[in-house]
This record gives sequence, structure tokens and C-alpha cells, in this order.
Amino acid sequence: MRETWQKVEPIADEAARLFYDRLFEIDVTARQLFKTTDLTEQRRKLFQTLTMVVGGLDYLEVLVPTIEDLGRRHAQFGVTDAHYETVGAALLWTLEQGLGSEWTPEVKGAWSSAYTLLADIMRAAAARSAASTVTANT
Ligand code: HEM
Repeated sequence: MRETWQKVEPIADEAARLFYDRLFEIDVTARQLFKTTDLTEQRRKLFQTLTMVVGGLDYLEVLVPTIEDLGRRHAQFGVTDAHYETVGAALLWTLEQGLGSEWTPEVKGAWSSAYTLLADIMRAAAARSAASTVTANT
């Protein structure tokens, strides 16, 4: 993953543009969520986070609280569980475009598991905080 990420980094802005175009094509509900967003800034944040995660894969447990916070904030942005599926699909598609022949089944498997892990941590934290809000209100 690190090797392939290094290849994407120099073209990060272009890749991020591809990613959002693809996401909005396959998921119109995602476009709504970014209606008021500065996408240039957002592209930077997305790649910064992915770089942090790829760099931290060997000590992911240190990153878990940060990823959980990110998941809770996403629930507040209106992001649903299903959005993580379309975002994951758009991300893998973008990497495939960027990497061409280096997009092997092994590379795909590694990215797919890492994204799923990240998304699962974010979704679980969002679900827990939603559950505790319900409890607090009853
Ligand atoms: C692993 C997956 C994801 C990562 C690493 C990620 C990363 C980020 C980061 C770093 C921010 C900046 C704001 C903050 O830190 O609170 C952000 C904001 C946001 N993300 Fe994500 N995100 C992910 C998944 C998603 C998904 C599935 C959606 C739904 C389509 C989404 C929609 C948004 C929206 C709407 C914002 C707020 C934009 C604004 O400021 O107007 N993200 N994301």
C-alpha cells in the first residue's frame, strides 16, 4: 500500500478530483452533502488523512481514537453507513485509474481491507454515539 500510495501522492490533486467526480456520478446523495464545501480544501484533507492512515497502518491502535472522532463528526455531517460503500468504491476506482498495470489483485485487496477497516471504525463510533444520544434523551 505504501508503495502504491507513493505513486499516487505526486498526482494527489488530480486523483482527488477524479475521486469526487466519480463519487458524485455514482452517488447523487453524496453531492448534496458537499453542497457548501470548498472542494479544493476538502481534496487536501482527504489526502492528508489517507496519508496519515497509510503511514500509521502498523500502529493503527494509536490512530483509533482520532478515527472514531472523525466517524462521529461524519454522522453530524449527515453521512450514512451506505455512503461509506460508495466512497470506498470511488476510492478504489480512482486508485485503479492512477495505478494502471500496478493495480494488481494483491494491491486491490490491501486497499480494500484498509478502507473497510477505517470505515468500520468510523461507522461503529457513529452508531455508538447515536445510541448514547437516544439513551440520554429517554
Ligand atoms: C475513510 C473514509 C473517510 C475519510 C478518511 C474522510 C475524511 C474527512 C476529513 C479529514 C474531513 C474534514 C473534516 C473533519 O476532520 O471533521 C471530512 C469531512 C467531510 N466528509 Fe469525509 N471522510 C471519509 C468518508 C466520508 C464519507 C463516506 C462521506 C459521505 C459521502 C464523507 C463526507 C464528508 C463531508 C460532507 C465532510 C464535511 C465537508 C465540509 O466541511 O463541508 N466523508 N472527511
